[in-house]
Amino acid sequence: MEIPEETFLRLHLQSPHNESSYISRAHHTLGQECFADTGISEINSFDISTLIEDGIASDLFVPGQKVVDLGGSIGLTSLDWASYGFDVTSIEISKKAHNYAVDFFKELKNKGIIEDENITFINGNYFTQEYIKKRQSKNSVASNLEKEYENQEIFANKVLFTKNPVEDIYKKNNFSLRDFDVFYAYLWAVQVPSMMELFKYHSKPGAVFATRAAIPNFKFYEFAQDIGLEIITHDISNETIKMTEISNHYLIKPEDKPNVYNK
Ligand SMILES: C[S@@+](CC[C@H](N)C(=O)[O-])C[C@H]1O[C@@H](n2cnc3c(N)ncnc32)[C@H](O)[C@@H]1O
Repeated sequence: MEIPEETFLRLHLQSPHNESSYISRAHHTLGQECFADTGISEINSFDISTLIEDGIASDLFVPGQKVVDLGGSIGLTSLDWASYGFDVTSIEISKKAHNYAVDFFKELKNKGIIEDENITFINGNYFTQEYIKKRQSKNSVASNLEKEYENQEIFANKVLFTKNPVEDIYKKNNFSLRDFDVFYAYLWAVQVPSMMELFKYHSKPGAVFATRAAIPNFKFYEFAQDIGLEIITHDISNETIKMTEISNHYLIKPEDKPNVYNK
């Protein structure tokens, strides 16, 4: 499949060195305030065009398919997927980041910078009620794997493994993770096993999980294997490695084995 030309939009979204880029503007406007309500993240400026293009080139994703951006933040990565013609749903827990994304998307449409891009923005927790229950009952490989990271990135626990009741965004908005062809998430190490598990439990057959990990010496393969996922392809593009040194990307699907969790 032919890769679209680099667009104005992508250049502006993804160039952290360009002072007038949208990322610089978001940093300038929001700073850490963007996540003041959850305190769990920052604005990212990684380029995901190589990940998307590699996936398209290897026929793992097809523009027009439905993508869920898990932790969509201020909307830049969702815009990136949408600019390639994917039908995107962003789920973001920070109300402030979510609101920024919604306004930003409207502004780009009003200015005519984007036209046909399709993004639905949802504010809330991407973990399903079913998954949260499973974790609490300890019937979860991820909860054991995460112990390794507990002390390193404990701040992530505030939201990820919160004991507070969480609203069921899937019920409220009448959709399901099984609606999506592609799961996309960029994660801290501590989040990776649970996200792998969420994908394994809730993806439809044939879905692909596209992710990045800017984490050196990270046990991505071991985690995937423990959870019952297969890493189908990774680091396809040398360019990705050259550009970011340690930011590799991974495309993952469930192993061809019976899913013990769904019995
Ligand atoms: C590392 S940023 C990723 C931003 C962007 N999608 C990217 O790839 O650069 C992770 C985002 O996930 C959000 N997040 C973390 N846990 C979440 C949860 N349980 N439900 C929804 N969003 C969550 C954070 O607020 C943050 O905006």
